[in-house]
Amino acid sequence: MAENTLTLIDNRTNQTYKVPIENGAIRAMDLRQIKTGPEDFGLMSYDPAFMNTASCKSTITFIDGDKGILRYRGYPIEQLAEHCTFLEVAYLLIHGELPTEQQKRGWVDDIKHHTMIHETTKDFMARFRYDAHPMEILVSTLAALATVYPEAKNIADPENRRRQIVRLIAKVPTIAAYAYRHSLGFPYVYPDNDLSYTENFMNMLWKMVEPKYVANPVLARALDILFILHADHEQNCSANAMRAVGSSHPDPYLAAAGASAALAGPLHGGANEEVLKMLDVIGDKKNIPDYIKKVKEGQFLLMGFGHRVYKNYDPRARIIKQIAEQVFQVTGTNPKLEIALELEKIALQDEYFVKRKLYPNVDFYSGIIYEAMGFKPEMFTVLFAIPRMTGWLAHWQEMLTDKEQKIARPRQLYVGSDLRKVPEQFGIKAAIGA
Ligand SMILES: CC(C)(COP(=O)(O)OP(=O)(O)OC[C@H]1O[C@@H](n2cnc3c(N)ncnc32)[C@H](O)[C@@H]1OP(=O)(O)O)[C@@H](O)C(=O)NCCC(=O)NCCS
Repeated sequence: MAENTLTLIDNRTNQTYKVPIENGAIRAMDLRQIKTGPEDFGLMSYDPAFMNTASCKSTITFIDGDKGILRYRGYPIEQLAEHCTFLEVAYLLIHGELPTEQQKRGWVDDIKHHTMIHETTKDFMARFRYDAHPMEILVSTLAALATVYPEAKNIADPENRRRQIVRLIAKVPTIAAYAYRHSLGFPYVYPDNDLSYTENFMNMLWKMVEPKYVANPVLARALDILFILHADHEQNCSANAMRAVGSSHPDPYLAAAGASAALAGPLHGGANEEVLKMLDVIGDKKNIPDYIKKVKEGQFLLMGFGHRVYKNYDPRARIIKQIAEQVFQVTGTNPKLEIALELEKIALQDEYFVKRKLYPNVDFYSGIIYEAMGFKPEMFTVLFAIPRMTGWLAHWQEMLTDKEQKIARPRQLYVGSDLRKVPEQFGIKAAIGA
């Protein structure tokens, strides 16, 4: 039987090394033994942007980017989107299994009883400038929650961890809705425990003077499915940030603030807002060929296209396209959809995109649906952050309980100046130790 090892020959020394292969990978630390002499630090692997480096073992999410497969804890995303609610999927991501009826009641009840934020946090949010971006308010407020729950620092206690996980999943829609209302100058709406997770979020966003907010069931379910699709995506930029920040053992509010900051960028969660801006710039189907030409010349990216992992159609984009039809039956169609569909059609036939395996990703259609539902583009990344909080927390917990994990501290290849002396002209400013 073939051996599960890799044989390496160092041509500098003619030495041969045999290193084990486990789960389709070699351990980078096994390279350290490869030296040219006793003074040599040992061989490292160089991998900017982690293009081919597994930083952990994980049981949360499986992606096969070539086949366009996405599964949470083994369940295909298509089945979860069809049969489950977001809170059931959140339970699955955090606990590893779908809940029983009894577990579900306890979980939903727990989440509902932690949706309120402290009045001082509400006051804190009221101090942001009237035109502050909701995503930036969210990032800052998540960090501020650390000041409200000082016991959250005790991350070694599983019960304490669980309480903060519930708090974060429960409070992120409340903070998101407050951030939105703040930007409009509207009074805050307190959570309503009669409503489901998504209905309550819609209530906190859009309730005006009516005594009870009633969400349109089609739109509430569409939002719930969008939350399921965005809940996790293995070692994406923000999950990696959650793990990296969390690895120095701050409380989860600070780690989640770091993760959400990573999500805010236009190459990650900020892309759906950029897609809408791009569709606005294109303005009409007749302008698409000229726009594509400029993309190919490298003037700008086609936002909502391409993915580090998917080199095939993003399975989430396929589900979102179906949701779009249901949403538009309620809201009326969004004229940008026509431009998006035509853009996709042209791009999928164009040699530039075909050769590079650039397909629509999750962000390509989500913004169009969000806009039809009444969300402003500034809220799109926030809508991504709400469900992704669950994924971040699942990764945070997995990282903390993984005995192999330590503080995340990569190596570097130093290519700067060799030892040199500060020039005479700088003189002596102060005696060392004075
Ligand atoms: C997602 C993304 C960051 C992945 O980047 P990556 O894995 O590092 O891929 P690369 O940047 O190496 O891209 C490979 C090639 O495709 C091109 N490319 C990638 N995405 C492109 C896009 N959206 N439009 C046009 N060209 C694109 C790159 O220019 C590069 O071309 P080259 O080989 O001629 O240099 C990138 O595709 C992107 O910026 N997309 C737009 C933003 C977006 O929608 N983000 C949401 C992700 S869910």
